[in-house]
Amino acid sequence: MMSQMIYPTTNFASVETLNIVRGDGVYVYDNQGKQYLEGMSGLWCASLGFNNAELIEAAKNQMETIAYAHMFGGKTHEPGMKLADKLSSMVPVDNARVFMGSSGSDANDTQIKLLRYYFAAIGKPEKRKIIARERSYHGVTVGAACLTGLPINQTNFDLPIEALGVLRTDAPHYYRGKKDGETEAQFVDRIVGNLADLIEREGAHTIAAFIAEPITGASGVIVPPVGYYDKVQALLKQNDILFIADEVITGFGRTGNDFGVTTMGIKPDMMSFAKQLSSAYVPISASVIRGDMYDAMVEPCSKLGVFGHGYTYSGHPVACAVALKTLEIYERDNMFAKAAETGAYLQSRLQEFADHPLVGEVRGAGMIAAVELVANKETGEAFKDGKVGYFAANACQEHGLISRPVAGSSLALCPPLITTKAQIDEIVEKMGKALNDTLAFVKG
Ligand SMILES: Cc1ncc(COP(=O)(O)O)c(C=O)c1O
Repeated sequence: MMSQMIYPTTNFASVETLNIVRGDGVYVYDNQGKQYLEGMSGLWCASLGFNNAELIEAAKNQMETIAYAHMFGGKTHEPGMKLADKLSSMVPVDNARVFMGSSGSDANDTQIKLLRYYFAAIGKPEKRKIIARERSYHGVTVGAACLTGLPINQTNFDLPIEALGVLRTDAPHYYRGKKDGETEAQFVDRIVGNLADLIEREGAHTIAAFIAEPITGASGVIVPPVGYYDKVQALLKQNDILFIADEVITGFGRTGNDFGVTTMGIKPDMMSFAKQLSSAYVPISASVIRGDMYDAMVEPCSKLGVFGHGYTYSGHPVACAVALKTLEIYERDNMFAKAAETGAYLQSRLQEFADHPLVGEVRGAGMIAAVELVANKETGEAFKDGKVGYFAANACQEHGLISRPVAGSSLALCPPLITTKAQIDEIVEKMGKALNDTLAFVKG
């Protein structure tokens, strides 16, 4: 029996499969009592596991104090102001200003509007296009879905991609994108060359920003080659194009440092956050911009009119209180450094799968990784459809590990930051069994 739910990102004909009823640390339990190690932190988000008592207490305390207050027109509250100041002090953006919402998608929509307003304010309204990459994931609201570069999120929706001025450039994935005989350095030069041509063709005066996940998630955990971001940033700077770092997955210790931009050597102008900002306990997002961009909008606002953008739940006090507690725990427990150490262990253990007959590439950084399964190990030929990836993820589930098939046939891992080395061993053991099951399935 199906409930009346319309499920997100699923086949309308699908049946209900996994019914999760409770969580304990990094483990979740289904309605049959079966235990799973949640190797994806839900959807790349529950960094502190599934029943952190301090976060629950923070939510309860805030609800008892005041359960809701809004922030339109400068109305405010302590948890909101404190969170904005705390986040501003953490990010590598000068004098960062923070706008809040409830999801990664709405954070990126907000970035589009902030760009529009900012360039109108400084008298350059024609500077409005945004460059996004193939295979990127920036969310699914109508605006964010235009930035996203995955067909599944665009087909059938008649999205206003051109109207929004979204331009597309190469995904920085050497393994999948290289031409025959091309070295990594040649690959980087070719795709950055393509970006330069795109900018030249469109005219830098029409392009506001470039948006990128420092390391991608949904597109298969792509870690760009060394040198890629240096060359991209030099090009953007030369053409006066802003860099928006979509840190919705990579923010807060996920990649072995505080932020993905630190891991990849990026100096962003704007950053988007959600997910681990509150360990996903309550929905909250943040769009961060450079302080001087904010300052430049202050005076022109009297002529342009108010920034008419805000959500009922912008700066929701319960979400802000939980996010503040989350950031406090990260700092107090030295969580980013610990996750870096556990992450290095995860990456080295996953490399053991590199010799497996089904595995084409093992990649990742810190506590995010993917194991790409291929039809032909020698040539790297991909499987034609997602069947093998789904089989492998289901096999993981059978063995009590939650993974996720992404980008066709890559198995993603993004375990909670609190995962121990012994639990990493458990992940690797379970995934190893699932890979062997999958090999038997493929051989038929
Ligand atoms: C990099 C990135 N940006 C944006 C989003 C969208 O976030 P949400 O699902 O909260 O709207 C996601 C979600 O996975 C993401 O991975």
